[in-house]
Amino acid sequence: MSRDGFGSKIGVIAAAAGSAVGLGNIYRFPCELGNNGGGAFLLVYLLIVICLGIPVMLSEFVIGRSTQKNPIGAFKTLRPRSAWPVFGYLGVFCAFIIMAFYSTVAGWTLEYIVKAVGNQFQGKDLATIEGEFEAFHQVGWKNVLWQCIFIFLTGFVVFKGVADGIEKYAKILMPLLVVILIVLGVKSLTLPGAGEGFSFLFKPDFSKITGPVLVSALGQAFFSLSMGMGVLITYGSYIKKDDNMATTALSVTLADTLVAVLAGVVIFPAAFSFGVQPTAGMGLVFSTLPMIFNQMTGGYIFCIIFFVLLAVAALTSTISLLEVIVAYLVEEVHITRRWATVLASAGCMAVGVFASLSLKQGTSLTIAGMSFFDGLDFLSAKILLPVGAFFIVLFVGWIMGKKWFNTELTNEGKLKLSIKGVIFFIIKYLAPLAIAVIFISGFL
Ligand code: TRP
Repeated sequence: MSRDGFGSKIGVIAAAAGSAVGLGNIYRFPCELGNNGGGAFLLVYLLIVICLGIPVMLSEFVIGRSTQKNPIGAFKTLRPRSAWPVFGYLGVFCAFIIMAFYSTVAGWTLEYIVKAVGNQFQGKDLATIEGEFEAFHQVGWKNVLWQCIFIFLTGFVVFKGVADGIEKYAKILMPLLVVILIVLGVKSLTLPGAGEGFSFLFKPDFSKITGPVLVSALGQAFFSLSMGMGVLITYGSYIKKDDNMATTALSVTLADTLVAVLAGVVIFPAAFSFGVQPTAGMGLVFSTLPMIFNQMTGGYIFCIIFFVLLAVAALTSTISLLEVIVAYLVEEVHITRRWATVLASAGCMAVGVFASLSLKQGTSLTIAGMSFFDGLDFLSAKILLPVGAFFIVLFVGWIMGKKWFNTELTNEGKLKLSIKGVIFFIIKYLAPLAIAVIFISGFL
């Protein structure tokens, strides 16, 4: 059986960047940054992305491409009759967890497209917009409906297959998102009182760097780059034998980080200008943005385009999550792609409903003192992804080893890659150590 592959080089980059760039950059990044000390968080975040991002990403790509398999099949191929496939299963489990709460927010982007088209923000003040966002969460069925529609859309694209499904959409629309973010950033920076938000974002207060801030930054970096649970192993398995994985990883990391920082530049100056607290969580994004559009000429059109692009960005991310589950079901459980997609989507909806409903006021859907939504977010970003990434680098660094890694990374010596030594050193020593230290520091 021949496997689906990405048609062109830009296809791989577009799809992996499509997975990376999403709600994680636009809503989760500002939330985490606002709650974890502003500039200090940004600094730690960037350090983690620079030092660990590319090595961890390459570890996943190499595992995927060398085996041409889904995460579970990949570990089974490389180390048959060992416990390593457990981390593949952990990845599939993690895909469910992330899908469950991510699709909640993804559903909101659809609600906001409808609101934008209906011109429902214009002329309203901050308190009204915030109040309407809050009120929307109280209408459980509406949240669930949008969420299910979003998961259905994801299933539709995944069913159509990798090459023509993912590639086509991501290639054109992601660059457009960057353009619109730049326009919004310029607007935001010229609002009265924007300077304060700018300093909040870029002036690090070193005393704010604590264990929990480090863990948040680590979790956010992995979440944003889609690392630590096998998405990139799966996508790596579609990379061609003569592609340069190092430049692919670099492009994806740069694109993802650019969008996150741009989102920060859009959100924080405007939030400070309008008087939205940096700790406002999701309100920070879903209230500040409509307020910016309210102040812009052509705001009506920009608002619609923005939320459409945000929905597409979310879609290319949910596609990658669903693809992990589907690839597993097709290749390991041997069911048809159609049934795999139906089953995986239904499973995500079943768990996801509880995430959506848990945002109602006075909800009883809580775990460990958090709403179910926050619990799933916490479990995936701060526990499962760091643990997954830790074992992935351990596997590459210590089990498979340097020779295997270099052979695969250099396409059997065809590429030079003078930095491969440094990358492997990080994979073997620095990455596991840094992940372990940060992880432990957050829970002491
Ligand atoms: N990275 C995506 C974002 O920032 C979300 C995402 C897609 C993801 N696939 C993932 C996160 C795999 C962690 C693991 O929006």
